[in-house]
Amino acid sequence: MGTHKFDLILRDAELFDGLGGPARRGDLAARDGRIVAIGEVGALGGSAAEDIDTAGRALAPGFIDIHTHDDFACLRHPDMAFKTLGGVTTCVVGNCGFGPAPYASAQALFAGLTPGSALPDYGDHAGYARLLEARPPAVNIGVLAGHGTLRHAAMGFAARPPSAPEMQRMRDVLARALEAGVLGLSSGLIYEPGMHAATEELIELAAVMRDSGAFYATHLRNEAGGLLDSVDEALAIGAGAGLPVLLSHHKAAGRDNWGRVRDSLARIAQARARGQTVDLDQYPYTAGSTMLAAVLANGVFTPTAAQGGIGDVGAEDVLVAAAPGRAEWDGRSIAELARDFGLAPRAAAERVVAEAPGATAIIHMMSEDDVRTVLRQPGTLIGSDGIPTLDGKPHPRLYGSFARVLGHYARDLAVLDLADAVARMTGLSARCLGLSDRGVLREGAWADLTLFDPATVRDVGTFDCPQRPPVGIVGVWVNGRRVVTDGKATSERPGRVLRRV
Ligand code: ZN
Ligand code: CU
Repeated sequence: MGTHKFDLILRDAELFDGLGGPARRGDLAARDGRIVAIGEVGALGGSAAEDIDTAGRALAPGFIDIHTHDDFACLRHPDMAFKTLGGVTTCVVGNCGFGPAPYASAQALFAGLTPGSALPDYGDHAGYARLLEARPPAVNIGVLAGHGTLRHAAMGFAARPPSAPEMQRMRDVLARALEAGVLGLSSGLIYEPGMHAATEELIELAAVMRDSGAFYATHLRNEAGGLLDSVDEALAIGAGAGLPVLLSHHKAAGRDNWGRVRDSLARIAQARARGQTVDLDQYPYTAGSTMLAAVLANGVFTPTAAQGGIGDVGAEDVLVAAAPGRAEWDGRSIAELARDFGLAPRAAAERVVAEAPGATAIIHMMSEDDVRTVLRQPGTLIGSDGIPTLDGKPHPRLYGSFARVLGHYARDLAVLDLADAVARMTGLSARCLGLSDRGVLREGAWADLTLFDPATVRDVGTFDCPQRPPVGIVGVWVNGRRVVTDGKATSERPGRVLRRV
């Protein structure tokens, strides 16, 4: 300390700038949480308290997980090892309409997922940010306000349009959230209570953020047969409210709809050509995951399933991920449980939800071809959509999404090149979020850094054994402090709340 010019020097690395430029060999130094020098190998001079010869490994900006549900997990599990061990340095919370505030509504909507683990009543979005700053996690947190949470606070689960005072209440909470620095508003239109909102309600609410730099992120009303109409709805909301749009976890769900992502991507391209700002994110798997109750609410295992937001999926395609209090059901398909219970699939799934209300499910519902088509699309961002139920058998995307893109899809299958893959999880994500000093290797940017071995980086979790961190992630730094060393989480908690500037 004191005698060193830098806090950290990483020498002889393949530097990925986070913007898709070709990697170049060099040294990088950080001080006081920021990148302060980047140069040719051996050119920086000076010493550092932490001086590392990377032996030619890849050094990238820390990965930004643009789609998480870690709103509570980052307070309950501040080491965030399930993310940092996979190279993640920033998590965006508040997705799919489920935000962290107001507190009571967030608790009500998240409670099933995380029973029996209370947090202090932090109140509103500003209070949530203050609590995070008092109890910082290992990663940075960007926050979205959730439409479902705002609506619940204003009018519970009412299946009708809001009254004028209810609408005003939602707008007031969102305006205050914006002052507290939230990056945007999310909606989840297959979920209670978001599903009860008409397009007009979403435009009227989102318009609170007009000209603020914030954006509208959405879990579409329908990712199955209604995919194209739902994309049009999202684009109309963005246009009506004057906001950039982020389409969450883009996909075509249900066998009947496979291939439709070509049409949805064409719609997005048309909107961009008209001058609209549209981004999309994706997790690199053919299975999704959500609350089993929400799967049922969309009509699966009934004759009308094809009209629901998830489409028609078979009982063997839906697995219990984690059933709180009923661990013996974890990992089993609804088809198997239906046989065990002597019930039809629908009734079997209803029994699981009745006995374990927070049960989560894994749904095998996409085609590999579609996953690659979306990933090949220039600019598609990477977000895990991981559900942080650390018990049971969560979807392996919680741990492995970024390593899977780098290893499986970029290196092994050449669906995209490595520098592009890095950009989709760093610089392009930061641009979408409106963060100008993260996601890039540039002097002056924050020193969020992920060091990995491009020859070995690989996701190793499976649906049977999901709780395995990826291999090949060598070191991770958040704001210049090391949170992962040789595959192990350190005790550092340098995460900050990232506010819209
Ligand atoms: Zn979602
Ligand atoms: Cu989500």
